Formats: sequence, C-alpha cells, structure tokens
Amino acid sequence: MNNFIYDIPTRVYFGENQLSNLGKELRKYGKRVLLTYGGGSIKKIGLYDKILDELKKGDFTVFELSGIEPNPRIKSVREGALICKKENIDVLLAVGGGSTIDATKFIAAGACTDTDPWEFFSKNAPIEKALPIVTILTLSATGSEMNAGGVISNTQTQDKIGRLSPNLLPKASFLDPSITYTVNKFQTACGVVDIFSHIMEVYFNTQNSLYMLDCFMEGLMKTLLKYGPIALKNPNDYEARANIMWASSWAINGFISSDKNQAWSCHPIEHQLSAIYDITHGLGLALVTPRWLEYCLDETTVSKYYQFGTNVFDIDKNLSPMEVAKQSIQMLSKFFFETLELDNTFTKVGIKEEDFEIMAEKACNNSVIQGFKPLNKEDIINIFKMCM
Ligand code: NZQ
Ligand code: ZN
Repeated sequence: MNNFIYDIPTRVYFGENQLSNLGKELRKYGKRVLLTYGGGSIKKIGLYDKILDELKKGDFTVFELSGIEPNPRIKSVREGALICKKENIDVLLAVGGGSTIDATKFIAAGACTDTDPWEFFSKNAPIEKALPIVTILTLSATGSEMNAGGVISNTQTQDKIGRLSPNLLPKASFLDPSITYTVNKFQTACGVVDIFSHIMEVYFNTQNSLYMLDCFMEGLMKTLLKYGPIALKNPNDYEARANIMWASSWAINGFISSDKNQAWSCHPIEHQLSAIYDITHGLGLALVTPRWLEYCLDETTVSKYYQFGTNVFDIDKNLSPMEVAKQSIQMLSKFFFETLELDNTFTKVGIKEEDFEIMAEKACNNSVIQGFKPLNKEDIINIFKMCM
C-alpha cells in the first residue's frame, strides 16, 4: 500500500435542528454572505425562510445567487464571482445538492482571481485561494459537502470537467436527513447510484488495498442496498435518509481512497453523457457501470468481482469465481434498473450513436483511462454500444 495524508477539515453538523449553529459558523468568516441555491426547491420546502431567519438573527448582510442549474454551468460561476467582487463578500452559503455546492466552490475561487473561472478547467489555472464556504446539503449523492472537488459544464463547448483543490473544501456542512424527505424518487435513486459508483471506482482497483478499507467500502455498499429501497418506498424514513446521507459523504471524502491513486473509469465516461444530453449524473452512471463491469471481466480481474459478489451480494462462495462475477453484475443491474426503477438503455434516455466517437474521445482525453482496466477510445465506444 502507499503512504498517505488524510486531512478533511470540514466540520459537520449532522441531524435535525442544527441550523441554530449556522450564525456561529458563518460569523467566523465575516458578516457579508452570498447565499447560493438552485431552481427554487429550497423555497418550496420552507428551508429558505428558516435560513433567512437565522441570518437575520445574526445580523448578516445577505446577497443571493439563485437559479444554479443541475449540471451547473460556467455562466452561473462567472455571475457569482462578480457578485462576490462587487459586494465584498466574506463567506458563501451554498444550499442545495452537488450542483449548487460545486458551482459555489468555483465562485469562491473565481472571486479571488482576475482569471476567467473557465480557465480552472480548460487551462488548469491554479486555485491559490478561495473564499470560505459553508454548505447546507439538500440531496445525498455527490459528497461535495465534504470534499475538495467540483464539476462544471460549458454548454458552448459541450464540456463537463472536474477539478480538485484543497482550497475548495467547505469549512462546515449542515447535514439534516429530514431535508431530503422531499427529494423525489428519481433523484433519490440517482443519488444512491452516484454514491455506489463513488465506492466502486475505488473498490475495483488493481492497487493493493487495506483490508479495513475494503470492509468499510463493502459496508457502505450494503448500506445503500438496504436503505435505498426503503427511502424510495417511504421518503420520510429518517433512518434511511440518514444512512444514505452519511454514506454519501464518506464515499468520496478521501477516506476510502487514501492509499490508492488509480484513475476512475465510469465518472469520466458519464460526464460526457451529461455534458451533451444534460441527463442526471446518477442515471448516466447506472447505464454505464454494469456494462463497464461486464467489459472489464476476465481471468485477470475476476478475483475482485468474486470478493464483491460474495461480500456485498452474499452470493454463494462455493460457486466458481467467474459464475459469482456474472451473478454480481446481474444483481447490480437488477438493483439499479428494477429496485431503483431507472431506465436501462441509452435508447430510452435518447442517447444516440452519432455522439459515441466524440464522447469516447473526450472521456479518455484522446489517450487511455488508466483505471481498473485501461480503456482507450475504442473500448469506451464498445461499452457505449453495450448500453444501447
Ligand atoms: O435546483 P433545485 O430547485 O434545488 O432542485 C434540485 C435539482 O432539480 C433538486 N433538489 C435538491 N434538493 C432537493 C431537491 N428537490 C426537492 N427537495 C430537495 N431537498 O434535485 C435536482 C438535482 O439537484 P443536483 O444538485 O443537480 O443533484 P446532485 O446532488 O446529484 O448533483 C449533481 C452534480 O454534481 C456533480 C455531477 O456531475 C452533477 O453535475 N458531481 C459532483 C461531485 C463532487 N463535487 O465531488 C462528484 C460527483 O461524482 C458528480 O460528478
Ligand atoms: Zn459521481
């Protein structure tokens, strides 16, 4: 295993009625707050009013940026960075899912430089500083509330690109599972798949793994298998929402990947689907992941599938490794497409063969994804064909 440094300084307020701590957290950074949110769900669920009450009590000066889109656009990032500069914002308060939080991260960075924020993605411009960010999570999926990454889309170039920097880590995040009661069935299912995929991207790895980390990942995946269907059936089940929410943060806060640095596979592939077709990230992952598993299965990789199948899906250990592997892919597909009721083909969601070439090229950056199994453009096109 490799050496590593683990350092996640985000303070988490988990559970109901934690908003009374919001003023105290924000005050550490100043009085001028930019509140960022999406298309208005926070108003419908009554959260907006509660937040404004807290901000009023703390005597904050509040500015707003609303309308941050799912698959957030660079346009919103530019707009937010301008507000920060013009209004001398001290701290950003992101209220929403991954899209709002991701956009807010790059607003915070864009506010501290004269570079156009798209250059963080197109030219890898340095992220030397960012304004402090506090988040209130409303959807369990991306883990953006407790990690250093974010993904932004540019509709003009049809690019969707991710970037990491420790300066983007939220200072504090409020995780109240009851806020996610109103997340609809489809977004709940997509969130569960996204969390599952964050774990699989690390679990299916050729680098030696710490046994304890593999066990931890298997526990997280079993948590999703258990509580995903419960949250779908009974959206107001606190235990289910709480387990999914905390799993979302731990799947991608650096803990499980601490000793590994192999590239991810399904995420760069999926980001091309949502860049062109604007589909929900978790749906794209559900479509790609079982086919990717099928494509990568051979005698050299089968042992990991055997471990996955027997430990996560409790498949009979006495079956041959290849049989366990095949059954595990079937069970995962069943979970995504039957239990979580997500569409199971590109055709159903409108993804067309004419875009395979360009999407595959961008996914591997005209080179090779050095992941669990190296994938070049042709491999990715083959995986796309399996998704039709
Ligand atoms: O925009 P509003 O009105 O808020 O509605 C949102 C949106 O329509 C709605 N929603 C959120 N919370 C709700 C709610 N509706 C009712 N009740 C609530 N409590 O849900 C819809 C989807 O929201 P969004 O933020 O787009 O979802 P998600 O959290 O899945 O974020 C997806 C984005 O994050 C990126 C994805 O690629 C995608 O762009 N990712 C970010 C990562 C990261 N920062 O580390 C990693 C991920 O792999 C991922 O790539
Ligand atoms: Zn993801």
